Amino acid sequence: MKRRQRLSMDFGWKFHRGDLAVCDDMKYRFNAGAFDRGPAGPKFDDSSWRDVDLPHDFVIEGKFSRTQRTFEKTDPPSKGGRAAHALHGYLPVGVGWYRKTFRVPGSDIGRILRVEFDGVYRDSAVWVNGHYLGGHLSGYTGFGFDITDVVNYGGTNVLAVRADAREYEIWSYTGGGIYRHAWLVKTDPLRVPPHGTFVRTVVKRKDGKTLATITVQTKLSNAADSPAKCRLISTILGPDGRKAGAGSSAARIPAGENAEITQTIDLPNPALWSVDDPQCYRLLSTIRRGRDVVDEYETTFGIRTFRFDPDRGFYLNGKRMKLTGANAHQDHAGVGVALPDRLHAFRVERLKEMGCNAYRTAHQPPAPELLDACDRLGMLVVSEHRFPGSSPESLGQLESMVLRDRNHPSVIVWLLANEEGRMQATDTGARVMRTMRRAVRRIDPTRPVTAAMNNASQTWGKGFSKVIDVQGCNYAWDLRKGGVEDVTWSGSENPKLYDLYHRRHPKHPMLVTEAFVTHSTRGIYHADRRKGYVSAYERVGTEGCTTDEFTWGAVATRPFLSGVLIWCGFDYSGEPDSNPRCTSNNFGPLDLCGFAKDSFYYWKAWWADEPLVHVFPHWNWREGRTIDVWCHSNCDEVELLLNGRSLGRKPVTPLRHLEWRVRYRPGTLLAIGYRGGKEAARDEVQTTGKPSAIRLTPDHATWSSRRDRVRRGASTLRADNHDVAIVTAAVVDDAGRIVPTGGNRLTFKVGGGGKIIGVGNGDPADTDPPKALHRRAFNGLCQVIIQAPCKPADMRLTATAAGLRSARITLRAARCRAVPFVPSVQA
Ligand code: GAL
Repeated sequence: MKRRQRLSMDFGWKFHRGDLAVCDDMKYRFNAGAFDRGPAGPKFDDSSWRDVDLPHDFVIEGKFSRTQRTFEKTDPPSKGGRAAHALHGYLPVGVGWYRKTFRVPGSDIGRILRVEFDGVYRDSAVWVNGHYLGGHLSGYTGFGFDITDVVNYGGTNVLAVRADAREYEIWSYTGGGIYRHAWLVKTDPLRVPPHGTFVRTVVKRKDGKTLATITVQTKLSNAADSPAKCRLISTILGPDGRKAGAGSSAARIPAGENAEITQTIDLPNPALWSVDDPQCYRLLSTIRRGRDVVDEYETTFGIRTFRFDPDRGFYLNGKRMKLTGANAHQDHAGVGVALPDRLHAFRVERLKEMGCNAYRTAHQPPAPELLDACDRLGMLVVSEHRFPGSSPESLGQLESMVLRDRNHPSVIVWLLANEEGRMQATDTGARVMRTMRRAVRRIDPTRPVTAAMNNASQTWGKGFSKVIDVQGCNYAWDLRKGGVEDVTWSGSENPKLYDLYHRRHPKHPMLVTEAFVTHSTRGIYHADRRKGYVSAYERVGTEGCTTDEFTWGAVATRPFLSGVLIWCGFDYSGEPDSNPRCTSNNFGPLDLCGFAKDSFYYWKAWWADEPLVHVFPHWNWREGRTIDVWCHSNCDEVELLLNGRSLGRKPVTPLRHLEWRVRYRPGTLLAIGYRGGKEAARDEVQTTGKPSAIRLTPDHATWSSRRDRVRRGASTLRADNHDVAIVTAAVVDDAGRIVPTGGNRLTFKVGGGGKIIGVGNGDPADTDPPKALHRRAFNGLCQVIIQAPCKPADMRLTATAAGLRSARITLRAARCRAVPFVPSVQA
């Protein structure tokens, strides 16, 4: 008896950029039978196509071009008056074709075979052996097809996918292609269908003890022509891997039907999941027919309670906490939207380091690996549905997101709409939202729903607001003439609107789903609008909006606000904020590579626990100039010293920065933070020499998450053809100090079977290709992403540059239990 197999379909694809007629003589998909020829058919010769592995983004492989002619659609949408090709980062979109040829053994006859895609951008069509299986419009939701009937058992098979990325689902870079994982799942006809388990937990305290009651709902599906008598055994494994509880039920499932079984299992003294201690449990669902185990299905879940309170904000496991979060797109330097799993975790780690405890998956249902990272690392998730509506298409997308993700302990709220201009404040909007909320409740009655509503003064309290469980506030824009009296203005932001709403709707919890922060370009202290660079001292954001201090000041002081998700954590491709010619923007405290800007430390100071001082700018100026020196600190007071001479101590006003004006002399500028009169933290900047060498530091060296380090080993990658090292390449002086203006072009080379899958530097004005072996450093830093081979190896990475001492490090790819995969074969 063969158990369930979930095999990766990531490797060994053939790829063609551009559109092709589906069949030689017929350009339509819905052929009555199967195509033999054409790119969807088994006989097609794809030997001239390129070899690619997934995840793959074909748009990021293009060349930046500011001429709209490179876009294939004529009437593209725009936002804020910016043209579509600017919003999407100036990389030409288009159509891509993929083909994978693989064997299916004859012994699979009688099993159910299904291909699954976690995300294809977008409007995809899928064939197996020329049989059209179906299409999928959304670029963000997962989907799959049963291919049992059309597989060639004991022979070769061709899976073909056409992805049409010419339409946009959001107004920033969207990428294109099979940019998330693909799978082949083989099961017995009697099985747990996809996402067929739902684990609900209730935690009670009695006589000083905690008891968790776990309700497990399991779907069983019988695709056979005869009824099945079976037993479902649900085993719960604790965070330590040991059996913590179990349930067993008999079932009889008629031929071709489904059944649902509910079991209740008590767990005394459960380990609760929290952001500081994210303890996860596993449910093993075993189906036995007689003595045979016919299926085993695994579900990760966590035990925690949470609630949104209209007066006191958010509670996790009974403890009040403010949500300190960030919005983020699935997009990273060098790889576009095709993030290897490690990069998802890396980005969550970077945000955690900044003090974030919440992540909004703007504006799309997330990749499964992002949620896995949030479960594992302790990050609460506001999970977003992209396409609000009550049409079958919209509801289908919503239901598929909720069904797939409802077991993740990290997910706390479903966000059903973002800034739906016309619809959000209307009765139509309320009706549509009610239908969506009902659809969510049917699948997941445990979480509230929200919607991110902008244009506050005109919309809050109307339309969507009447239905959603938590009022989502995108900014607090006061669009009334004169606004509310007695306000501190910053652009059109008026935090008094939060108070007004709370007064009028005292029973409605509130969450700030977007708020602007200081826009800045990493390492820039003088704005250069021509290049699109924004200075770190920016007091009003580039879109006429707010700063870090304004935003956090407004949220931190309002106990009824559950928290904030800043816009946004990381800069992202497209949607240029400062100069429309830029390929990315300046929105985040972290740049496109995840390098920290100065404002990162504002958030870290007020969101994370440890005492902190961060002083800026860098200390390489012309002698005699007067320099604005700023300091972010959560200490009581900070003393500034230049070359050992004190420039005075200043008390810190909570949630604000400190400023000095300092006459520049080269040397060391030191800031010392005091708490209770004692030194608690320090930071310094030093005048550096000229660029003289390169330094390479893999992310492994700077991991903040002990958990991941333990799991992966101190300095190794998994030899699985997928894991990556995210390496910082710094331009340093003779003394090893990063030269803050270093802009040398670095060239990378890697041996041992490693691959350079992308380079970046966080410069929004840079139009060099992200898929390259070289990159100019931007303000001292650039990033190179190295992918491990499938065999254990030492990968030697070298970085060279004219006039600089080169650098070399060894990254070890170690043997691991790789995810089993389906190899590709020649047709
Ligand atoms: C918001 C929107 C975001 C982003 C941001 C910055 O209105 O929801 O997607 O566009 O503005 O402009």
